[in-house]
Amino acid sequence: MSKSPTSYSDLADRVVRHYKKTKRDLPWRKNRAAYKVWISEIMLQQTRVAAVIPYYERWFNRFPTVEALANAPLDDVLAHWSGLGYYSRARNIHTSAKELHQHYGGQLPQDAKELRSLPGIGRYTAGAISSIAYGKREPLVDGNVARLLSRVFEIEEDIKSTSAIKQLWELCTKMVPAGSPGEFNQGLMELGALVCLPKNPKCGHCPLEPVCLAHAHDRTGELPVQAKRKKDSDKPLLERDALFVIRRGKILLAHRVPKGLFGGLWELPQTPSRPELAGLLSLSLSFHGKKPGMVHSQVLSHRRLCIRVWPASAEGRTKLAASTSYQALKWYPLSQLTTLGISSASKAIFQNIAELRAINREQQ
Ligand code: ADE
Repeated sequence: MSKSPTSYSDLADRVVRHYKKTKRDLPWRKNRAAYKVWISEIMLQQTRVAAVIPYYERWFNRFPTVEALANAPLDDVLAHWSGLGYYSRARNIHTSAKELHQHYGGQLPQDAKELRSLPGIGRYTAGAISSIAYGKREPLVDGNVARLLSRVFEIEEDIKSTSAIKQLWELCTKMVPAGSPGEFNQGLMELGALVCLPKNPKCGHCPLEPVCLAHAHDRTGELPVQAKRKKDSDKPLLERDALFVIRRGKILLAHRVPKGLFGGLWELPQTPSRPELAGLLSLSLSFHGKKPGMVHSQVLSHRRLCIRVWPASAEGRTKLAASTSYQALKWYPLSQLTTLGISSASKAIFQNIAELRAINREQQ
């Protein structure tokens, strides 16, 4: 890395001034209560601002306080997260809310280290809560900030390497101003998100353009240095067979155990192969057709998912076999599907419910 192009305080001033002039009017910027900062920052991880807004609004209508969240059933929490993905985030929020309710009087601590002792709160989230809600001089680095600073300071190492991450946190620790740490941190993120774009950065709109080393050396296209990402087709393929069965207006759903992929969510009962379904559920099944009623394919962060959905009729009383994936089965009224915590894969499948039902009817 080259030397700082200017003083850290000049950089911080530029960022804060620009942020005050141009910041977006977002719901979580109206109220800097720590609980609101916490939830918005977790929702914003790996999710676009526009997608988060309706989730944010629904969340605070249903769980207006840490206490309300702590006292809510996990199912309800997951239902309000349903579609945002990375469900361990919602489970961790719920566990942390209980801890905050029991041991902290429902208040989030101000100190970043203490915040980090809560499940799901890492260095980034602790820095965000501490600086934005409490005005503490704490740094933060997210992906957008990393890209921006790798250009301003011409960081040559792979942006995900331990060494680059260490440099980025050190830089931010030095730069974050005592007077307006929250505005500085949000200003950096905002610049990264809206101006210092991965491709075709809008340098003409950037307050750091006059001091940016990559800009001076015409290297914004080369930086940040990034190790090649795994291609989707290299991700392992997870294939599942799912049962679609309806009796008297109710659909059979399975409830996942709390941990692991899709933990705590409801879905069509699934097994690695179709013949295993009957044994899992203790049902006698007759499948409607030789081909699945639909096939849902989706690329997740670490794997590809392929779910074949089999419309069928079923006889017998359901009884869940010993299972490492599921904790319960339930016949659920079709009209109430939207109130459940389900994954986006299940959401996509349920969008085709009319067609799947038609297959069931035709062939019964
Ligand atoms: N991205 C995630 N959190 C943000 C925030 N508080 N401001 C701007 N961009 C963000």
